[in-house]
Amino acid sequence: MKVAVVGATGLVGSEMLTVLAERNFPVTELIPVASARSKGKEIDFKGKKYKVVTVDEAIALKPDVALFSAGGSTSTTYAPLFAEAGITVIDNSSAWRMDPSKKLIVPEVNADVLTADDKIIANPNCSTIQMVVVLKPLHEKYKIKRVVVSTYQSVTGTGVKAVQQLQDERAGIDGEKAYPYQIDLNVIPHIDVFQDNGYTKEEMKMIKETNKIMQDDSIKVTATTVRIPVMGGHSEAVNIEFENDFDLNEVREILAQSEGIVVVDDPTNLKYPMPKDAHGKDEVFVGRIRRDESQAKTLNLWIVADNLRKGAATNAVQVAEVLAKKGLI
Ligand code: A2P
Repeated sequence: MKVAVVGATGLVGSEMLTVLAERNFPVTELIPVASARSKGKEIDFKGKKYKVVTVDEAIALKPDVALFSAGGSTSTTYAPLFAEAGITVIDNSSAWRMDPSKKLIVPEVNADVLTADDKIIANPNCSTIQMVVVLKPLHEKYKIKRVVVSTYQSVTGTGVKAVQQLQDERAGIDGEKAYPYQIDLNVIPHIDVFQDNGYTKEEMKMIKETNKIMQDDSIKVTATTVRIPVMGGHSEAVNIEFENDFDLNEVREILAQSEGIVVVDDPTNLKYPMPKDAHGKDEVFVGRIRRDESQAKTLNLWIVADNLRKGAATNAVQVAEVLAKKGLI
C-alpha cells in the first residue's frame, strides 16, 4: 500500500512513521511530505531512505492513504484535493473534526461507522481520545450523565517549538517561545485560544468531540485543560457521574477487559499511571479508580496516555488498519 505522511518531519508525523513500522502496516511505498523547506530531505523508514516531497508532488504520486499532521491550514487546503484525487485522508488536525459530513474516529469506540464514502476522516484531539477510550465501556454498562475533567498536558502536544522552549529554559537559553509564559517549573492553564465563553478551544474540543465520538449528546462534559512541563504524555483527572450505580471491582474488570486499556491501580504498592511509563506505548493507562464519596453513583479515575501515540499517531494508524481490514483503502 502506498502511504503518504503529510508533516513527516514534525513530532506527530515522525511518530506516525515509527508506529507504521512497529505495527507492520503493509507499506509498499512511503511518501514523506513536508513543507517546501524540507523538500529533498531524507527520511529513514524500515531501513530504507525516502526523500521528502511537497504536497502537490504527493497528490501526483497517488497514494492509497494519506495521514495528515501538518497543521489545520494545510489540512483545510489540501485534504479536499487529496480526497478529490481518490486518496483517503486521515487527518490529525482540528480542521474537519466537527464538520457534520466527516467522521471522527477512535477505533475502540466507533470504528463501525466508517464506510466507503469517508474520504476525509478526522482523528480526534489527543486529550479526547484517551478519555473516550475509557468512557465508552463504562457508558455502555452504567450510562454516563456527566463528566468533569482536568488535564495535565505534555509540551509534546504543541510541537517541536514547545519541546525546544522547555529544553532551552532548562539549559538557561533565551530562545524562541511557543507559550506566552515560561513552561519549565510552571503550569499554564491555557491550551489553544480563548473563546467568548471563557473556555479555551482545547476545552471546547473535549466537550464537543466527546459527544460526537460517543454519538450521545446527552453526556454532559466540562473541562479545564492545562499545560505542564512534561514530555511523556497527557494525564487526566476524570470525575464521572452515572445514571446507574456501579461496583468498583466490576469497573476495574470492565476496564481491564476493554481493548486498548491497561489498568494500573494498586495504591498499596504505589502503582498508578504516570506519563513517564506511558511514553512510547500505544495503550491508555487507568488508575486511582475510586468512588466519589461526595456524590452517589460517581467515580473518580486517572487516565494517562502518550499523546503522540494513542492521542495522535497510533490512533491514525489504527484507523488506517480498520480501513484496510474493511477493504476501504
Ligand atoms: P517542515 O518541517 O518542512 O516545516 P510540528 O507540529 O511538530 O511542528 O510539525 C509540523 C509538520 O507540518 C512538519 O512536518 C512541517 O514540515 C509540516 N508542514 C508545515 N507546513 C506545511 C505545508 N504547508 N505543507 C506541508 N507540510 C507542512
